Formats: sequence, structure tokens, C-alpha cells
Amino acid sequence: MTTLQGRVALITGASRGIGAATARTLAGAGAQVALASRSGANPGIDGAFAQACDVRDAASLEAMVAATVARFGHLDILVVNAGVGAYGPFLDLPMEDLEEMIDVNVKGALYAVRAALPHLLRSDAADLVTIASEAGRRGLPYEATYCASKFAQVGMTRALDHELRERGVRCTSVCPGGVATDFAMGHGRTPEMPQLAGMMSADDVAEIVLFVLTRPRNHRLLEVALRPVTETSWG
Ligand SMILES: NC(=O)c1ccc[n+]([C@@H]2O[C@H](COP(=O)([O-])OP(=O)(O)OC[C@H]3O[C@@H](n4cnc5c(N)ncnc54)[C@H](OP(=O)(O)O)[C@@H]3O)[C@@H](O)[C@H]2O)c1
Repeated sequence: MTTLQGRVALITGASRGIGAATARTLAGAGAQVALASRSGANPGIDGAFAQACDVRDAASLEAMVAATVARFGHLDILVVNAGVGAYGPFLDLPMEDLEEMIDVNVKGALYAVRAALPHLLRSDAADLVTIASEAGRRGLPYEATYCASKFAQVGMTRALDHELRERGVRCTSVCPGGVATDFAMGHGRTPEMPQLAGMMSADDVAEIVLFVLTRPRNHRLLEVALRPVTETSWG
């Protein structure tokens, strides 16, 4: 399969940043796209279905998936992308930021899969793509809680690969380094910090997601790690 014609993709966190770029790219490749975010905003994608959905709320995700299937008839692709980040010395991190990272990045990912999986299992070409992070592959300084949440996403996706591979659902973690979005500034980052220089674009990540989804179905990519050339491969 070289295009996404006939496939339906649900992307969480699709109102801006990597999620919006991914939705635009998948729609450009022929997919019908459903866009979930708290605002419910459509970033200008013709024919897309957008609905307000807070991934911290399992019922909100169930409603999003049901509305997507009602609109398009089926669901073949889930991109778990909605995420938040806050950085700084561990003890300085406000408890609300700790809770939000776990609620959005960990519980939100699990809730999204729970809601979408019954439909993915009915598809003859199903994919789960989790937008995790380099922070899901290695410990990064001043990012303990964010790393914990991203390791959780990678762990979930790896485990689901074992469970779902023979049932026709491919599971892939995409692990970017710095991407120039609103998120990249996060809480606790300032423009002069070295990790903000020379970042990738949201479209760079979207192209990787499209590559993952358009591999022939005799194989799958388990994990794709990408980093800007300005970032080291350690630390
Ligand atoms: N930017 C980077 O450097 C980078 C690097 C590696 C990995 N990532 C990962 O990539 C993903 C996307 O990040 P981004 O850089 O594109 O961030 P972004 O520009 O801040 O966009 C985040 C998206 O998530 C949505 N969102 C936030 N909380 C939500 C919630 N509770 N329920 C539903 N949607 C929610 C936001 O929409 P609303 O505000 O409308 O809800 C928005 O669409 C995240 O998982 C992030 O961890 C980012």
C-alpha cells in the first residue's frame, strides 16, 4: 500500500504542532482524518472531522471514536500524539504539572488505545503510532517526569506489538528529539537553551509517520528515532 486512500485515521492532539502536521500529511495521502483536541479546532484540513476531546477523560475518547466511526464508517489508524511537557529540577516541578503529564501522556495514551482498538481489530490494515520522544528512550536531565511518561508510552507500544502483531495491528513508536512547536518551549525552558537551536519541524515528524504507515504490510517499524543534527545522540 503506497497511499492511505480508503483508510481512516484518528489523531489526538491534532489542533496544532506535530498532530496538525500529521493530520494534514495523512489527509494529503488520501486518508480521512479525525482530529481530537481539547479545543476541537480544525487547523484548516478540508474534509476533516474535528471534535473537542480531552484525553484525560476515557469517556471523552470513547465519544470521539464513536463519532469518528459514525462519520467515516470505520477506523484503521490511531496516532497517539496529544502530550504535555514541563521541565526543571525534580523537586521544583509543581505537583499539578506532574499530574498533568501522567494524566495526558500516560493515561491519555492508554485510554485512546482502549477506545480505538476494537475498531482497529476489525480493519484489514490497522496501525497504531505513538508519538513518544527521545525522552522515552533515554533519561534526560531535568525531565524525570516527562521521561517517565514517555518511557510508559514506548513500553505500552512495545507490549502491544507482541499482543497485536498477529491480529493485524502494527504498533510503532516514533521518538523525535526537538521539534519547533509551542510545546518545545514547555514550562521551564527559555529561548537561549541549546536544545531549542536547529530543531526539526512538525512536518519532518509527519513525513516519518507517513513513511511508517505506507510500509508494505509484510513488515513493520517498531521504533523510529529522529533527532536534529544540532542535538547529540547521548544524554
Ligand atoms: N515538540 C517537541 O520537541 C517534541 C519532541 C518529542 C516528542 N514530542 C511529542 O509530540 C507530541 C505533540 O507535541 P507538539 O510538540 O506537537 O505539542 P503542541 O504543539 O503543544 O501540541 C499539543 C497538542 O496536544 C493537544 N492536547 C494537549 N492536552 C490535551 C488533552 N488533555 N486532550 C486532548 N488534546 C490535548 C493540544 O490541543 P488543545 O490545546 O486544543 O487541547 C495540541 O493539539 C507530544 O506527545 C510530545 O510529547 C514533542
